[in-house]
Amino acid sequence: MNNKPLRVLIVEDSKDDTELLVRELERGGYSVAYEQVSTADAMTAALGRTWDVVISAYSMPAFSAMAALALLKANRRDLPFVITSGTIGEETAIAALKAGAHDFLVKGRLTRLVPVIEREMRETALRGEQRRAQDALRRSEAQYRSLVEHAVFGIYKATIEGQFLTVNPALVTMLGYDTADALLAVGLPNVFADPTVGADLMHRERDQFTGEEAMWQRKSGEPIRVRLSGRQIEVIDGGRSAFEVIVEDITERHRLQEQLRQAQKMEAVGQLAGGVAHDFNNMLTAILGYSELLTEQIGPDKPIGQDLRAIVTAAERAAALTRQLLAFSRKQVLAMTPLDLTRVVRDVEPMLRRLIGEQIVIKTVLADDLDAVMADATQLDQVLMNLAVNARDAMPRGGVVTIETRNAELDQRYVLTHTGARAGAYAMLSVGDSGIGMSREVQAKIFEPFFTTKERGRGTGLGLAAVYGIVKQLGGYVSVESEPERGSTFKIYLPRTNQPAAVKSTPAPVVSPVGAESILLVEDEDDVRSFIKIALQRFGYQVVEAASAPDALTHLEALDRPIHLLLTDVVLPGMDGRELAARVTRERPDVQILFMSGYTDRMRTTDGYLEPGVHLLEKPFTAETLLKKTRQILGQSRPLGQGHT
Ligand SMILES: Nc1ncnc2c1ncn2[C@@H]1O[C@H](COP(=O)(O)OP(=O)(O)OP(=O)(O)O)[C@@H](O)[C@H]1O
Ligand SMILES: [Mg+2]
Repeated sequence: MNNKPLRVLIVEDSKDDTELLVRELERGGYSVAYEQVSTADAMTAALGRTWDVVISAYSMPAFSAMAALALLKANRRDLPFVITSGTIGEETAIAALKAGAHDFLVKGRLTRLVPVIEREMRETALRGEQRRAQDALRRSEAQYRSLVEHAVFGIYKATIEGQFLTVNPALVTMLGYDTADALLAVGLPNVFADPTVGADLMHRERDQFTGEEAMWQRKSGEPIRVRLSGRQIEVIDGGRSAFEVIVEDITERHRLQEQLRQAQKMEAVGQLAGGVAHDFNNMLTAILGYSELLTEQIGPDKPIGQDLRAIVTAAERAAALTRQLLAFSRKQVLAMTPLDLTRVVRDVEPMLRRLIGEQIVIKTVLADDLDAVMADATQLDQVLMNLAVNARDAMPRGGVVTIETRNAELDQRYVLTHTGARAGAYAMLSVGDSGIGMSREVQAKIFEPFFTTKERGRGTGLGLAAVYGIVKQLGGYVSVESEPERGSTFKIYLPRTNQPAAVKSTPAPVVSPVGAESILLVEDEDDVRSFIKIALQRFGYQVVEAASAPDALTHLEALDRPIHLLLTDVVLPGMDGRELAARVTRERPDVQILFMSGYTDRMRTTDGYLEPGVHLLEKPFTAETLLKKTRQILGQSRPLGQGHT
């Protein structure tokens, strides 16, 4: 027979009684392993081993059941504990049971022994299980608490009426409070930037929501953008329902996304603007060119001459706008030279004075020891003009414009608080006014193309977009400081160069625009080409025209007389102007090259800077400019009729 093993610790001084117990258990079907102890010390030692049950005599000479029980408890052992006694007094039994004994048996009647032990072992096992489950629960609760306490996300519970029940430390920090109690006292609706939105969100009849975005405010009033995910839970007390919500602060992420979106938008609009500007410049070249040719024929005094001037004025306005677009799209070709910003300001000052009128005083604070910057003088004029016109518009009742230049360093601290700025050594140009100023909302948008607060016809919103494009193209940074009614100051930082500023070239001596040289003209736009041809021919030049680069090369091969100048558009279908120029130069090294361009993507070497020594005529141009430039270039080369074979 397979007996069940049972390990019994018997606390007993009588060997006979011990054997009686063992026999009874064996009769009950157990294979008993036991130890008999009769002192506290012996029992303590025995408790180091594993037992299924303890059976103890009620009283012994040197020990007692009550003392044994106490010992068991002190050892934190939950074992079935059964007392046996020769006599059974009610009071002693009650006292023993109260002390934790599980049952009380009379020594002479051990028939109940086995059932009692079995019952007790079952109950002990059950208690053990419960204890383990409770421990596990306690542990997991502690883990959850720690999760909530240490979470990077804000977590709260709040009643449907908006009263906070619990808040975690991350939420307290997120909202800028010192303690959880301080936040608990505030109430959920008040952390919403707009309390009605908060009320709305809470009362929505949904028991679950994810990724709900909302604007909250910190204790300081500073707004933060949050994502809320939560669910409704039943709160036991009074059956009121509450929400359990996780809060993610997405202010920074949102800001970065906005920045990226903004940059992409600027880039896309820039692309578009560049393309449009290209077509515009061709059209404007034709409009301006023919108007000029007509004016010459008619003479300025005829009434029709005035109409023509109106056309020219309008076309010039369109050309100025196109220039702003190009500047913004960073597609302008730059004639980079080391420049002294102080000198640039001094040179345009008279023009600025005319531009902004007499009601406004221009004050200049110009550094004499300014380091040079690499830039294109025409573009800097454009920047100054745009800023000055804005300053004028901001001061309808007059005021002061202050133009300042100085050397400036941008340090790491500045860079951290001004997105897009890079630390380094700069020359700074600032234009400040005492005008109407701008709100934060306006400031956030001023560099966007076509953003304007001016009435229709007064502004196109391209001025600052152009400034932004130019400064970016030059590797600089533009900042604005402004407050409503307190005026505005724009500061432009351009990287310093260690090259000395170029001395302003003395204007070329006025030359007669007349010539007799041969010019190979390559331009794919028919209108533009014919205007140029007419203008050149009128002043004595021989013109060979081509609509494409391969055409031009064919002409060149067939030609047995010398060609003095290749006048070519940069952007041509198929082979572009640059490549054509390279081929022509290879075959006829004496030929001078003059590029024309309105949109100059392919002109770039790096970042749109012209190679030194390359001549460029920016579209749209007038016949006068064309002829001057042509004469200037040809005049620089050998006199006509020498050296060509
Ligand atoms: N100095 C300034 N003071 C106050 N507001 C300004 C100032 N400069 C620019 N702004 C604001 O920025 C907006 C955009 O300026 P921006 O120069 O780009 O366009 P615009 O002046 O409106 O039009 P455009 O320059 O194309 O004629 C202006 O409409 C104005 O609201
Ligand atoms: Mg403007």
